[in-house]
Amino acid sequence: MPQTIAVLDFGSQLTQVIARRIRECQVYSKIYHYSTPAAKLREDNVAGIILSGGPQSVYAKQAPHPDPAIFQLGVPVLGICYGVQLMGYFLEGEVEHSKAREYGHGHLTIKKPGRLFAGLPKKLRVWNSHGDKLTKLPPGFRSIGTTENSPFAAIEDAKRNFYGIQFHPEVFHTERGADMIRNFLLGVCGVKQEWTTREFVDHAVEKIRAQVGKGRVLLGLSGGVDSSVAAALLHKAIGKQLTCVFVDNGLLRKGERAAVEKLYGDHFHIDLRVADAGKLFLRRLKGVSEPEQKRKIIGRTFVEVFEKSLKSIGHAEFLGQGTLYPDVIESVSIGGNPAALIKTHHNVGGLPERMKLKLVEPLRELFKDEVRRVGEALGLPREVVWRQPFPGPGLGVRVMGDITADKLEILRNADAVLQEEMLSSGYYYKVWQSFCVFLPVRTVGVFGDERTYDYVIAIRVVESTDAMTADWAKLPHELIQKISSRITNEVRGVGRVVYDVSSKPPATIEWE
Ligand code: XMP
Repeated sequence: MPQTIAVLDFGSQLTQVIARRIRECQVYSKIYHYSTPAAKLREDNVAGIILSGGPQSVYAKQAPHPDPAIFQLGVPVLGICYGVQLMGYFLEGEVEHSKAREYGHGHLTIKKPGRLFAGLPKKLRVWNSHGDKLTKLPPGFRSIGTTENSPFAAIEDAKRNFYGIQFHPEVFHTERGADMIRNFLLGVCGVKQEWTTREFVDHAVEKIRAQVGKGRVLLGLSGGVDSSVAAALLHKAIGKQLTCVFVDNGLLRKGERAAVEKLYGDHFHIDLRVADAGKLFLRRLKGVSEPEQKRKIIGRTFVEVFEKSLKSIGHAEFLGQGTLYPDVIESVSIGGNPAALIKTHHNVGGLPERMKLKLVEPLRELFKDEVRRVGEALGLPREVVWRQPFPGPGLGVRVMGDITADKLEILRNADAVLQEEMLSSGYYYKVWQSFCVFLPVRTVGVFGDERTYDYVIAIRVVESTDAMTADWAKLPHELIQKISSRITNEVRGVGRVVYDVSSKPPATIEWE
């Protein structure tokens, strides 16, 4: 086991971001419950402790407090935000309770770089979000940095290797924050950088094996990045004990099912079952044109088909899921937020409880870009690892209004042309999403000598970093022209192509 940094979690949403920054330094960390006994940390031989932030006041009735003996372990401690107030509280400084939170940018002036701020400029913009404030240093400490609002924005006890920072070094808004964490890990704790993606994979494989034993794991494979990486990782860990289920809902893009069968079945030799449910989905969707209604039908039918195929596979104890850390945050904290709604389709709801399945979620602590690196390390091809997002309801929300097999066919053919051109021009990997939308509007045109009266395809290409906001992509005119003429020439039923020049907000990325 590599050297471990313990992150004690006092309830901050940023705890996982701290863990991520540590991973970025190629150091292994483990998140512990805030009340973990010091003896346990000693037993785990931790090389350093980071106290996370937290929403509480140290004086609150329910305030999470650590085992005070952690300060006697003889290992370095870094307190962040709430963590520094805990140091003040437990090491005999003074902490002032404040009802108002200080929130936003501050300016740090480094007075003494010491080991924590080694190599950093004297003045840095930092990000604050705290209520209580340290007002008197604990004995043995000195201030090493100030902000406009605090003479004790950064403190150290170099003898005991205790450090505290009032602001959040883990967020991007804090300039050089990652270097502060790096300095703590390498300079103060003296750990080696040996935790790489390879290491992560090996460790995850061991963990999966330990959890699953000889049991059987079922996994719903969508073909997207998360479930693909989860499948490859589970397969590496438990081989034939994994069975994947892919639901063909009839709303997939051209060649999608064949690609999944080829990669997972032929290449990885994963036990892959395909539920052929296109007809059922189309039957249920017949005549339905309201977008949320369509989503509901697709979601419900998906769960039903998925559950049925799991039952037909036979007994299993575990359900694998490609849950990532941002999904975990969404589902616990942002009730009612549309971002949380996005996942409803993939969320198999009460299924694990109903079928008495235990969850195996090997990517639960990772962020998307880390999952992509894991995918690469597992040998997944670029077009899977760097695939653009695709909504769960698939082409169902890209055919405007009611869905028919004919409309789907037109959309599929047009979309295939677009993807081909995006890939061959290299733009596919430069944009966030690129897709076609079927508009059930017929317009007049001429083809040869004949008058035509055909449908419209809209092209939607956007740039974004998180899908919360997006800009329409300024593709070269020649490329748009090529896509347009190929679609009108090659796809029967399309007489006109339009390019969507709306940004989000106010438009959403998908049209429905
Ligand atoms: P919007 O259209 O809301 O999309 O700007 C933001 C991101 O979410 C995707 N999206 C969905 N994903 N089920 C999904 O799994 C859905 O119902 C859904 N609707 C939108 C969309 O492709 C974009 O990446």
